Amino acid sequence: MATYKIKIQSSGDEFNVKPSQTILEGAIDAGITMPYGCQDGACGSCKGKVVSGRFYIEEYQSSALTDSEKEEGYTLFCKTMAQEDLVIETNMPNMYDSIPAKVTPVRVESLQKLNHDVMQMYLKLPASETLPFKAGQYIEFIMVDGSRRAFSMANPPHKSMIELHLRLIEGGEFTSFVFNEMKEKSIHRIEGPIGQFYLRESERPIIFIAGGTGFAPIKSIIEEMIFNKNKRKIYLYRGVRSAEDFYMTDLVSSWKKKLGNLTYIPVVEDGSSTDLRSGYVHHAVLEDFKKLSDVQVYCCGAPGLVENAFIDLIKNGLPEDQFFADAFTFSPKKK
Ligand SMILES: Cc1cc2nc3c(=O)[nH]c(=O)nc-3n(C[C@H](O)[C@H](O)[C@H](O)COP(=O)(O)OP(=O)(O)OC[C@H]3O[C@@H](n4cnc5c(N)ncnc54)[C@H](O)[C@@H]3O)c2cc1C
Ligand code: FES
Repeated sequence: MATYKIKIQSSGDEFNVKPSQTILEGAIDAGITMPYGCQDGACGSCKGKVVSGRFYIEEYQSSALTDSEKEEGYTLFCKTMAQEDLVIETNMPNMYDSIPAKVTPVRVESLQKLNHDVMQMYLKLPASETLPFKAGQYIEFIMVDGSRRAFSMANPPHKSMIELHLRLIEGGEFTSFVFNEMKEKSIHRIEGPIGQFYLRESERPIIFIAGGTGFAPIKSIIEEMIFNKNKRKIYLYRGVRSAEDFYMTDLVSSWKKKLGNLTYIPVVEDGSSTDLRSGYVHHAVLEDFKKLSDVQVYCCGAPGLVENAFIDLIKNGLPEDQFFADAFTFSPKKK
C-alpha cells in the first residue's frame, strides 16, 4: 500500500503514514514523540503546522483549533491525513514556555468523597522529588496496560501534595477502580505537568467557567492568585447538572472574603434549586455580559461545554485569543 513520508522540520525526524492513518498515529507507530492528549480533536495538545504538502483534516472542535490558527497553517495532527509527502512542525513544548513533564511514582495519601460522585485524592511525591507546574495544568496516571488518564491538579503549585477531584464515570475503568478498590498508601505512576490551561498575564477581568470537576484547575488558579495577592477582578461561574453535584462551596465563600474582588455565580442546569440560577452555565455569562471584548475567559469541563462556550462567546464579541480551555475528554478509545 502507498505510504507518504512525513518529515518534522526542526528535528529532521522522518516517518511514514498510510493514507488512512492520521499523522499522529503514524508518529506513534514509528516511535516518534509528538505531544498529544485526547486524540479526538478536542484538546489542542497535538496542534502544529504543515509547512508543505497537501493534507485534509477531519471533524474537530473549533475551541481546539480556531479559524485564525487554521488560516496561519496550524492543524491538529490527531485529525490530519496526508495526501502527499509532508513537512510539518510540531508544537514543541517550549512554544508554550512549558515546564518539562516527567514520570514519577506517587503514593495515595488520602481518598475522600466530596459528594455522591466526586472523589478528592491527595498524592504524595517521593521525598527527593518535586513537581513544579503552572496552576491549571494536569497530570496523567499511567495504567498497567500503558494507557493514560488525565486529571487536573486542584492544589496551587506552592502546596507540595497533589490534590485531584475525580468524577466517577459509569463504566470507566480507572475511576471505578478509584472509587471501589484503590487503597490509601498504594503506589502509582504519573506523568506531569502537562497542558496549556494556565493564567495569562493581563489586566483584563477574568471570567472562569467551571463545569463539574472543571472546578479543580480553576481552584488551583484562584488559590495561586490569592497566594500571589493578584488583584484582578474575577467572575466565577460554576455549573453543575443538579444541585447535589456542588462540592467545596464553603471554600468558595472563604475565597470571596479573602479576595473581595470575586463574584460567584453558581448555576444548576436542571433547575433543581429554586435559590440558584438555572440552565447552561455559559448562558448565564451571556446574560450578564453584554460586552465581552475586554475580558479574558477560562473554561474547563465537558467537551460539549467548552465547544459551545467558545462558539457562543466568540459570536458575542470575545476575541478568540482571549478564550483558554481544557476539555475533559475521555481516554482515547483503544485501537
Ligand atoms: C486535560 C484533561 C483533564 C482532566 N481533568 C479531570 C479532572 O480533574 N477530574 C475529572 O473528573 N476528570 C478529568 N478529566 C476527564 C478524565 O480524564 C476522564 O473522565 C477519564 O477518561 C476517566 O477515566 P475512566 O477510566 O474512569 O473512564 P474511561 O475508561 O476513559 O471512559 C469510559 C468509557 O465510557 C464511555 N463513556 C462513559 N460516559 C460517557 C459519556 N457521558 N459520554 C461519552 N462517553 C462516555 C467512553 O466511551 C469512555 O471510553 C480530564 C480530561 C482531560 C483530557
Ligand atoms: S490530541 Fe489532538 S486535539 Fe487532542
